[in-house]
Amino acid sequence: MEFIKVNPQADKFIALIELNRPKELNALSRQLMIEIRDALRELDEDDNVRVIILTGGEKVFAAGADIKQMATATAIDMFNIDQFSTWDQIKKTKKPIIAAVSGFALGGGCELAMTCDMIMASETAKFGQPEIKIGTMPGAGGTQRLTRAVGKVTAMELVLTGKFISANEALGYGLVNRVVPVEVLMQETFNLAREIAKQSPVAIKLAKESVNNAFNSTLDEGLIFERKNFYLTFASEDQKEGMAAFVEKRVPEFKGK
Ligand code: CAA
Repeated sequence: MEFIKVNPQADKFIALIELNRPKELNALSRQLMIEIRDALRELDEDDNVRVIILTGGEKVFAAGADIKQMATATAIDMFNIDQFSTWDQIKKTKKPIIAAVSGFALGGGCELAMTCDMIMASETAKFGQPEIKIGTMPGAGGTQRLTRAVGKVTAMELVLTGKFISANEALGYGLVNRVVPVEVLMQETFNLAREIAKQSPVAIKLAKESVNNAFNSTLDEGLIFERKNFYLTFASEDQKEGMAAFVEKRVPEFKGK
C-alpha cells in the first residue's frame, strides 16, 4: 500500500485506515482509491474486525479527487477509466465505517466522508463541494448524499457556490455526528467505534443494511426490509446470548454467529 496505511487491529475489533498522501492533501488519486477498495474488501472479511475507522490524519481529510489526473481527460477517457467504480466497495462494505475528519474534506473528500456511515469532525474540519469552481460538478455521490444529509436548499447552495462550511455549520445541518477538539478526535472516534464493536456483529450488519435501505425504498418497502432483517437476527446465537444476558443480568458476549 503506497497511499494508505492500514492497521487491522488498531484496537480490539477496530481497524484503522489512514490516507497517506500528505503533499497532495490526500487528493484521491485512482491508485489511492484502489487501495481503499482493496483494504475494505479484506477488512470486511476479517472476523477480528467489527468497525472500521477512516481518517486523513490531523491536517487534512482529503482535498478531493486528483485534479491533476483528470485535468486533460476527455469524457470518454473518464468513462473508460470509470474511476468511481472503486467507490462502490465503500458502499458494499457490510461493517460500519466511521470517518474521522480534520481539516479539508472537499469534493471527493466530502463525498468519501459521506459514503462512510458516520462522521466525527474536529473543530478544524471544513466541508465543501467546490467542483463548480473548476468547471465541473460532484461525481462521486455529492449531489445525492449531501442532499439527503442536509436537505435541498443547503445542498444546492453548497454545490452551486462551492463554498466551504465549518465543522459547527456541518453539525447544525446534520452532516456530522459530533464536533470535538482536534487533539481528541481520534480518541472520541475510537470511543464511538468501541461502543459499536461491543454489540452483536450480526445485528450491526443487518441494522446498517436496514438504515441504508431507507434511502433506496419507500417507507412501506423499507419497513418490510427492516422486519425481515429483524427476524433474521433471531437466527443468530448473538440474539440468544444478548437476550439471555439481559434476563440473567450480565454482560453479553457476542461472537458474530
Ligand atoms: N488534486 C490534486 N492536487 C491537489 C488537490 C486535488 N484535489 N488539492 C490540493 N492539491 C495539491 C496542490 O496542487 C498542491 O500541490 P503542489 O504543492 O505540487 O502545488 C498541494 O496539494 C497543496 O495544495 P495548495 O497549495 O493549494 O494548498 P492550500 O492550503 O493553499 O489550499 C485547498 C488548500 C483549498 C484545499 C486547495 O488545495 C484546493 O482548493 N484544492 C482543490 C479542492 C477541489 O477543488 N476539490 C474538488 C476536486 S474535483 C472532485 O473531487 C470531483 C469529484 O466529485 C470526485
